[in-house]
Amino acid sequence: MVRARPWLPFLAIAAGLGIVLPASAASQTINDSVYTKDQAKTGKQLYQDNCIACHDKKYFRPVLKAWDGQPLSVLFAVMSASMPESNPGSLPEKDYVDILAYILSLSRYPSGETPLEHTNNGLEEITIAARK
Ligand code: HEC
Repeated sequence: MVRARPWLPFLAIAAGLGIVLPASAASQTINDSVYTKDQAKTGKQLYQDNCIACHDKKYFRPVLKAWDGQPLSVLFAVMSASMPESNPGSLPEKDYVDILAYILSLSRYPSGETPLEHTNNGLEEITIAARK
């Protein structure tokens, strides 16, 4: 006899172990006030010190559009590993997070009460999306 729902035992085990299935990830987008004004303010100074020489303030609008649907963690990974081009990965991770907040503010995504966090999968669960 063929079992009708062979995946049922797996789901039960996954639930028991507290495994989060992919469908429950990415519950937020960058429209959902995912950074604070303070982060963007700190990020602005860092951006002026480290990024503006090569990327003017308009640079990231089309970039965010092109990355539509990707998790924010991927953009973070690219910039923290390869930027600034002249000295890749030279900033502390926290600084890249603040710069990311500033980049969101430049494209007029809303700020809120909850800071952007790169730890605990914080960026994996936020999706890049066109501005509402
Ligand atoms: C010395 C010049 C230079 C500096 C400084 C620099 N970048 Fe870049 N960056 C580049 C070049 C060149 C590219 C690849 C070509 C392009 O897309 O313009 C690039 C690409 C990127 C990309 C990928 C964009 C995409 O289309 O996928 C990101 C993200 C980025 N830079 C972020 C930053 C951030 C954040 C900083 C500051 C911490 C920074 N860059 C500083 C030169 C620079």
